[in-house]
Amino acid sequence: MPQQIILDCDPGHDDAMAILLAAAAPELDLLAITTVAGNQTLPKTTLNARRVCGLAGIRVPVAAGCEHPLVRELRVAANIHGESGLEGPTFTGEPDVPLDPRHAVDLIIELLLASDGDIVLVATGPLTNVAVAMRREPRIVSKIRHISLMGGAWGLGNRTPSAEFNILVDPEAARIVFESGVPITMCPLELTHQARATPEVVGRFADLRTPVGDVVVEMLRFYGEAYRRLHGEGGAPVHDPTAVAWVMDPTLVETRLAHVDIETHAEFSYGRTVVDLLDVLHLPKNALVGIRLEVERFWDRMVEAVGSYRAP
Ligand code: BDR
Ligand code: CA
Repeated sequence: MPQQIILDCDPGHDDAMAILLAAAAPELDLLAITTVAGNQTLPKTTLNARRVCGLAGIRVPVAAGCEHPLVRELRVAANIHGESGLEGPTFTGEPDVPLDPRHAVDLIIELLLASDGDIVLVATGPLTNVAVAMRREPRIVSKIRHISLMGGAWGLGNRTPSAEFNILVDPEAARIVFESGVPITMCPLELTHQARATPEVVGRFADLRTPVGDVVVEMLRFYGEAYRRLHGEGGAPVHDPTAVAWVMDPTLVETRLAHVDIETHAEFSYGRTVVDLLDVLHLPKNALVGIRLEVERFWDRMVEAVGSYRAP
């Protein structure tokens, strides 16, 4: 039986890759895509999710969620993902994928309550929707089988020296999720920086010679260039599909169980994931922390997934 998942995301180039992987993997049954404000405003991330689904012929409910983080003002990542949040390829017109009328939080609650407790939430944006769903309907907490998320770092952040973007955008939401008791797999920057879109990787998508493969190449070129301007050479890390990959095949990601806290009070380390990898605190371990990615097999699966979308 494929593992049922809900993908909560903020597309975003790497979120788009996560969508393509999640919908294609035979090990997964993608029940819904829910969107959140993050890389760009909610209308933009939602439109981008619908565009990716339209392009690839993915037909699952796409529902829009929270427009703002719980406490702080929204900060977006236009420096990496551009004004639309998915710059690079040209998308014209309305995608032929309708927007689900339900609020993403309601949809998440509805799917979880109706389930046998066997749905995994994959979260690749700020954790606002997940936290709001937990607060609005606490009965869902025991229904979530697992949360696999891209976020955090045990070392340096990418938005401040201390904080990774997804956690920094909504640290209060992240704290609710990490303290919820739901088993978590966290794919931090140290893991996702192993998933580099090198020229060789981009070439593999180009070699597919399919419409979806070509769009992936255009996305990775824009994203790679933005990354190079900000962080230098080496290939842009395609963070988000790693959180899908762990659910699809846990042998792709080596993990270590650790206690993780989210800093929500400090001035300079606000939004930091404090990861007790050495177990110096002897506190209950609430997250499997991704340490090492099986890089070649990860890209094989990603290329295979993108290659599975054929022109209609
Ligand atoms: C995370 O931030 C976003 O820009 C990406 O989509 C990814 O989810 C990486 O820090
Ligand atoms: Ca993201």
